[in-house]
Amino acid sequence: MEIKRENLITTLGGEEAVARMDSEAKADALEDFLSTELDKILLSTDPFPTVAEVEAKIPTRHYRMGAGNLFVATAPGAKVKVLPPMPEKPTLYDFFALRFAPTNHVLQSAALAMKNGMSEEIILACLLHDTAQALLKADHGYWAAQLYEPYVPEKTAFAIKYHQALRFFADPAYGYEYPDLYRRLFGEDYVPLPHIRADYEMLKKHPWYEAPRLVTVNDFYSFDPKAKISIDPFREIIGRHFKQPKEGLGNDNSPVAHMWRTIAHPDMAL
Ligand SMILES: [Fe+2]
Ligand SMILES: [Fe+2]
Repeated sequence: MEIKRENLITTLGGEEAVARMDSEAKADALEDFLSTELDKILLSTDPFPTVAEVEAKIPTRHYRMGAGNLFVATAPGAKVKVLPPMPEKPTLYDFFALRFAPTNHVLQSAALAMKNGMSEEIILACLLHDTAQALLKADHGYWAAQLYEPYVPEKTAFAIKYHQALRFFADPAYGYEYPDLYRRLFGEDYVPLPHIRADYEMLKKHPWYEAPRLVTVNDFYSFDPKAKISIDPFREIIGRHFKQPKEGLGNDNSPVAHMWRTIAHPDMAL
C-alpha cells in the first residue's frame, strides 16, 4: 500500500511537528491515519480479488468485517480506546462527536448533497446514511433506517434503508456506477445476496426510487484526511427534521432505545 507522505505529514501538523514526535507518537499517528480497514482497501492498487480470495482472508483476521467500528480496532496490534462519557441526555450531536467519529464520510456526503441542491430529507439521509456502521457494518442501511425511523421523516428513513441495496446496482441515468470499492470488498465476481436483489427489483417500481438513489449518488468517499467538515451547516435541517427526545436518545423508551444505549456503552460486558 502506498501512503502519500505529504498527506500524512500535513495531517500530523507539518514537518516541524513530526520532528518533535517520539516514535510512539508517530506510530499512534500513523494508526489514526489508517484508522479503518476501508481506508486501507481504498488505497490498494492490487488487482481486484475474486470472491474466493476475499473469503480466504477471513481466517487471517481477529475480527469480522461486519463488526461495528466502535467494537474493534482493526489496525494490526491496535487496541480499542477508552471512550469519553456520554452526557445524561444525549442528543444526535453527542453521538456524532463522541461515538460516530470519524464522521468525515457522512459529513462530506451531506455537504455534497447540499451543494447539489437536494431536498432537506435527502440531505439528512446523506448525513445519517452510514452512521450505524458504528454499531454494525453488515446490513448497515437496514440497521440505520431502524435506528432513525422514530425520529426522521419517512422518506429519509426509506432513503437510508435502501441506499445499501442500490449501491450494488449501476444507474447510468443518475451517473451512478458500480463502485470499485465493492469489487475490492466483495470480489469482482460477487453476486449480491437475495434480499438485496429482491429489494432492488421492488425499488425499481417504487415511486420513491429516487430517494435512496440520490443517497448513492451523493455517497462520497475520498481518502482526504485534511477534509474536516463541521456538522454546523446541517444544524437547521436537523432542527427541522430530527425529533430529538427530551429524555435523550436511549432514554426515551422508543422501540430502538436499546440500540442507542448499545452505541453509548459499547464496553458493557452484558
Ligand atoms: Fe452505506
Ligand atoms: Fe456511504
